[in-house]
Amino acid sequence: MNKKVLVISYSQTGQLDRLTQSVISPLKKDKDVEVVVKNIQPVNPYPFPWDFMTFMDTFPESVYLDPPEILPIEDDENDYDLVILPYQVWFLSPSLPITAFLKSDYAKRKLRNKPVITLIGCRNMWIMAQEKVKGMLKQLNAILIDNIVLIDQGDSFSTFVTTPRWMLTGKKDSLWNLFPKAGISNREIEDAKRFGNAIKYALQNNKEKNNRPICDGLRAVNVDVKLIKSEKIATKSFKIWGGLIRKIGPFGSKKRRPVVMLYVVFLLLIILTIVPLNMLIQTILRKIDKQKVLKQKEFYELPSGNGDYRMKEFL
Ligand SMILES: Cc1cc2nc3c(=O)[nH]c(=O)nc-3n(C[C@H](O)[C@H](O)[C@H](O)COP(=O)(O)O)c2cc1C
Repeated sequence: MNKKVLVISYSQTGQLDRLTQSVISPLKKDKDVEVVVKNIQPVNPYPFPWDFMTFMDTFPESVYLDPPEILPIEDDENDYDLVILPYQVWFLSPSLPITAFLKSDYAKRKLRNKPVITLIGCRNMWIMAQEKVKGMLKQLNAILIDNIVLIDQGDSFSTFVTTPRWMLTGKKDSLWNLFPKAGISNREIEDAKRFGNAIKYALQNNKEKNNRPICDGLRAVNVDVKLIKSEKIATKSFKIWGGLIRKIGPFGSKKRRPVVMLYVVFLLLIILTIVPLNMLIQTILRKIDKQKVLKQKEFYELPSGNGDYRMKEFL
């Protein structure tokens, strides 16, 4: 019984690759499992570290899922048993190289009727991105059986500083000894091998064929209810401004710059004024309608859920 697993790979800083390697390490050690990693390469690579203008200029295409050109993915004859799709979030959407993969002919051929596990490594806002990925997987007739999410260390305020600093300067170290290091903690990345152990067990027992989660009970995902509404509001704002900016010119066009910068100023003003007020209102609303919030949390944590009942077995 030889199982074949397809793994998609794109990472700018190498963080998502490290996470992916941790997850698939138990599979690579199993002689009954063949792991095939396919790299996604944009024809025009995105810079790292980013300059501020290019960073902001990617938001319209990210939000509207406009696929950039990628190099052809080398095809093979394999009929895969399972697909692992790691991705990072750009502006509450899957990163552009991943969108390009999901819209490629290769994905149309290889993901059809296949069980897929999404593996997200991002700052902390991924809910709307996963809704978009769910939609694209549905169009491919792929079956999402698990979603695993790892986020950057530190609270929302800290990562609001550490993640952009890392993206714009390349620096990951602790700033003034006040903020944690940028990115997902090494411990979390190391412990992510538990998912690989569970996937290995599932493949050995044909459980991936049941179209049900195989990474449940492993604390795969935890929705922060404070962020649901913020993500929804920000997505609406990105859509309105992004739609306008896309009409002015393509990604990288000089004509877009003044409007992109205007949006940055607008965002800063909103963050300083409306966001704190809205946070207060949302806290009150969440207290009033606890049931609704819990339902939302449960929904966005599907299919894997945030239970931890199998941690001892696989860590
Ligand atoms: C252009 C851009 C936009 C990003 N937007 C988000 C976001 O909306 N939500 C989030 O949680 N992280 C966001 N991040 C952080 C990434 O998801 C990710 O953690 C980081 O880019 C490292 O990924 P890597 O493995 O490609 O190096 C963004 C990063 C970039 C470069």
